[in-house]
Amino acid sequence: MATATKQPARREAFGSRNVFILSAIGSAVGLGNIWRFPYVAYEGGGGAFLIPYLCALLTAGIPLLFFDYAIGHRFRGSAPLAFRRLHRAAEPLGWWQVLICVVIAVYYAVIIAWSAMYTWFSAQLTWGKGNENDFFFSDFLQMADVKEVGVSTQFVPQVGIPLVLVWLVVIVIMCLGVKRGIGAANMILMPLLSLMFLVLVVQSLFLPGALDGLNAFFTPDWKALANPAVWASAYGHIFFSLSVAFGIMVTYSSYLKRRTDLTGSGLVVAFANSSFEILAGIGVFAALGFMAAAQGTDVSGVASSGIGLAFIAFPTIVSNATGGSIIGVLFFGALVFAGVTSLISILEVIVAALQDKLGWRRVPTTLVVAIPLAAISTALFSTTTALAVLDTADAFVNAFGIMAVALVAVIVVAWFLHKLPALQEHLNRRSSFRVGTVWKLLVGVLAPLVLGYLLVNELIAKISAPYGDYPGWFLSIFGWGMAIALILGGVALSFVPWSKSSHAKDDSDYDEFLLDEAYDPDPETGSIRVATQGGAR
Ligand code: PFF
Repeated sequence: MATATKQPARREAFGSRNVFILSAIGSAVGLGNIWRFPYVAYEGGGGAFLIPYLCALLTAGIPLLFFDYAIGHRFRGSAPLAFRRLHRAAEPLGWWQVLICVVIAVYYAVIIAWSAMYTWFSAQLTWGKGNENDFFFSDFLQMADVKEVGVSTQFVPQVGIPLVLVWLVVIVIMCLGVKRGIGAANMILMPLLSLMFLVLVVQSLFLPGALDGLNAFFTPDWKALANPAVWASAYGHIFFSLSVAFGIMVTYSSYLKRRTDLTGSGLVVAFANSSFEILAGIGVFAALGFMAAAQGTDVSGVASSGIGLAFIAFPTIVSNATGGSIIGVLFFGALVFAGVTSLISILEVIVAALQDKLGWRRVPTTLVVAIPLAAISTALFSTTTALAVLDTADAFVNAFGIMAVALVAVIVVAWFLHKLPALQEHLNRRSSFRVGTVWKLLVGVLAPLVLGYLLVNELIAKISAPYGDYPGWFLSIFGWGMAIALILGGVALSFVPWSKSSHAKDDSDYDEFLLDEAYDPDPETGSIRVATQGGAR
């Protein structure tokens, strides 16, 4: 009898669909929206970029978001368990995603720590006027060249201490669980983040020169639409922006109640994420317009993205604008909040996977996962060569981690396992927005073509010239070596046996979860067991 086996720790759930939606938005809205999108859009034709962007969103971003939701919700598991239930041979895909999340988590936390310090610095303009560049690289990071010193172990306390604090905060949130930790954190941080961002954008719009910035951002360059690289960057951006193929959406949707509108939620998440991005574009370019005017140059001369935008351009704006400190506190505070809600989502992928595999409870699993990660993160990223490691790991894990696993996943699920019809049916069971053949074609044909194209481009670029001009030995460890290790590690982990008390030993759970139409998990116990004989639970 199925009930004779030891019961695994019960599966957690979000308090409501709205909490799920807010948490999914919290994950999607991250550093990518704030510091990446504005520049990608500006470079890709300004106002004209909206066309490839919307195409990418509608034809790839949203369809793949539905794909992730369908897998997580139908198979009710963390990434490895959900893929395993899809097909035993697909389990390595889930572990590959888990390991990708390990890499991202260790460096993402550092950027949050920098942002936290810069929130504090903004209040007092610590970096001094005209010295923003040197301050970041020399005074704050105390950066050393890997070509000269190798991988340094010299501790930089002003990075290391806030980094440990960031880890402490996220560990506490994670220990509190899905409902009281992740859900509650998003319920508090997301409205706050939106409010801060709105105030920031409005304030930027009143800076002198703001209009020039907006003109630069929105003026359409229609010629850009003829450039395939612009389309590729729109697709590349949308995958990252919506956090698809990280395992995050699979994990989060496994915490949703059985009867729920999956596609409707997905549409809300996707459009909220895009609205946030566009708002960020307006705020960032209004501020850059001010900076250009103050320096007597063109917006093109000051526009940048990523670390350059956040830690050099923004501090310059903060130094020069009236009320600059407020802009700085709002901007860096927003980076911290957006970052924390994304970091917890990525950690949940790892914690959920281990919980499923071992059948352990939340707190011990969280501690076993997060303490070593915090230690690695601090050891690697509070040293003088942290930036080079971060830059390389980020570039390689995005291309040969996320993009590659997305490509393999859609090919395996669509072409080898022929599971798209089953996933389509699952999506349509309860959803307000029904998906049909078009969805299957987008996920099964268009997505692999686009991802394949992007991946080949990345391979050619990274083979033909050493990334970031870093030394070969360095790239082979933190770039290529890391990316290959994630794949091998993923396969290896799929051979580790599932513990007797793990969720995977209880396949009857999710079978019955699927079959019994009139069934919802008990909100108190979270139990999804339905007696195989005798009718009632
Ligand atoms: N969509 C997220 C972003 O824009 O930053 C992607 C992400 C990155 C999610 C890192 C989670 C994470 F930890």
